[in-house]
Amino acid sequence: LHVVVLMGGWSSEREVSLTSGRGVAEALRERGWTNVTELDMDRDVASRLAELKPDVVFNALHGTPGEDGTVQGMMDLMGLRYTHSGLETSVIAIDKELTKMVLVPHGVRMPEGTLVDSERLFERDPIARPYVLKPVNEGSSVGVAIVTADGNYGSPIGRDVEGPWHHFDQLLAEPFIKGRELTVAVINDEALAVTELKPVAGFYDYDAKYTDGLTVHVCPAEVPDNIAGSMMAMAAKAHRLLGCKGASRSDFRWDDEQGEAGIYLLEVNTQPGMTPLSLVPEQAKLKGIAYGELVERLIEEALK
Ligand code: DAL
Ligand code: MG
Repeated sequence: LHVVVLMGGWSSEREVSLTSGRGVAEALRERGWTNVTELDMDRDVASRLAELKPDVVFNALHGTPGEDGTVQGMMDLMGLRYTHSGLETSVIAIDKELTKMVLVPHGVRMPEGTLVDSERLFERDPIARPYVLKPVNEGSSVGVAIVTADGNYGSPIGRDVEGPWHHFDQLLAEPFIKGRELTVAVINDEALAVTELKPVAGFYDYDAKYTDGLTVHVCPAEVPDNIAGSMMAMAAKAHRLLGCKGASRSDFRWDDEQGEAGIYLLEVNTQPGMTPLSLVPEQAKLKGIAYGELVERLIEEALK
């Protein structure tokens, strides 16, 4: 089988995607796959894929474009098979507000969002402090800030994004949920585990996500069984309702003073990271699935 690992591109998560993609390609070669092509996406991606004629594309892209349905739609038109979610799911899940429109009516608890015109951002607070301000369709916490009562907490601009805040088309303000940061991976419809993320300083921002030593991962998380069970059920339900394929990862906040009623789903990632510090491979490993095996499972699923 000829596998093209599609990675890079020009999203703000380009570097993360290159790391994911190289990890995937290397794991396949280690497992004896001889026909693996790494493709850094540029504007000629369609002609490159037409030349390469892969049997399957491992989509290791993150962010926009790549996680947002554009690349999925192109591959659908070309008749290519690819890992992870398809066009419709990707379009919805990349947009944190659209995701709420699908999930909240089905009883998935998510913080209420208010769309903010980035041009008017500094005129007044869109909602009461403390709140989280985030681009509606970015990943890896690019552009995320927590606005506390006494000022901003965290960098408004992700490290790979140049320019002022109005770089982002649409921003979302959500009430800040105090408490703990947790995540659940779902592979082929099964929730794997709960991981708690404990950044050593500040919040789980871009640097905390990708710098070794800046975040402690507690996996499995030390939370009561009913909380873990409830989060895993919510993640599996979100994966199903959105029609995710292959792997997804649902990120949560838990206000631990509120018990189960304090669990909030923040978003569903349809192209979760596959870097050495990423959470889906870590949970898979806990369940006895090595990184390379996870990659192969995702390819198998894409070929079904
Ligand atoms: N957006 C990053 C890659 C993640 O969700 O893991
Ligand atoms: Mg995300």
